[in-house]
Amino acid sequence: MTVAKYVIGNWKMNGDYALVMQMIAALRSMGPLDNVTTVICPPFTLLHSFAELLGMGHIHLGAQDCGTEISGARTGDISAAMLIEQNCRYAIVGHSERRRYQMESNEVVAAKAANAQAAGLMPVICVGENLAEREEEQAEIIVEEQVTAVLKKLKNAAVIFAYEPVWAIGTGQVASHSDIAGMHDVIRARAAKHDFKDVAVLYGGSVKPENAGGILALGGVDGVLLGGASIDPDAFIAIAKTAHHLP
Ligand code: 13P
Repeated sequence: MTVAKYVIGNWKMNGDYALVMQMIAALRSMGPLDNVTTVICPPFTLLHSFAELLGMGHIHLGAQDCGTEISGARTGDISAAMLIEQNCRYAIVGHSERRRYQMESNEVVAAKAANAQAAGLMPVICVGENLAEREEEQAEIIVEEQVTAVLKKLKNAAVIFAYEPVWAIGTGQVASHSDIAGMHDVIRARAAKHDFKDVAVLYGGSVKPENAGGILALGGVDGVLLGGASIDPDAFIAIAKTAHHLP
């Protein structure tokens, strides 16, 4: 049986209205692809510009973050309800760049994931070790802690994790297939321990059209989370088509 794969693009702090228009044109010519769930997570300010995509039905929108609170005095934050109003279905939480530059702890990430879920968004929870942690052979422990902290706060429902080793993000240094498969098993086992059954695990970190096929074909990989490749319409579509053509 072929299982649907996720291809999710995280634009990070990139893109403008012109890129939205290019992406919409490219996605329109791509058309729907069976067995692929395609999601674009642009900066908040561009969400509204993507409204046209929604008519196509086969592309979904996601946010790159979501507030820890439901509403109120949190200057600069965006709530889960606001994201729903902008037609988002997904919210990335716990990206390593936010953990690093905004000092987000596992508890903050868990609060964001819980808020997203409660509002009806599918949380895409990013986890992953940095290089020092990998070299000290702490990678599994770090990832297990990150996963557990979030699962403890979530209701038992469908959830997506993205394994993004920090050293693989934007470096061109993709994790090996055995590292990916091994950590995906760790994440799945931890989820099973908490009785979560509907769990998708994606890989992110230097995924490009050239290496996407091998990664997506791995048994425990339910899709990919793209950074750089997601702001290049040709690369994004090439990867979505690769997911579609998997045997
Ligand atoms: P790159 O694909 O640019 O390595 O980024 C991955 C990422 O951080 C997606 O969230």
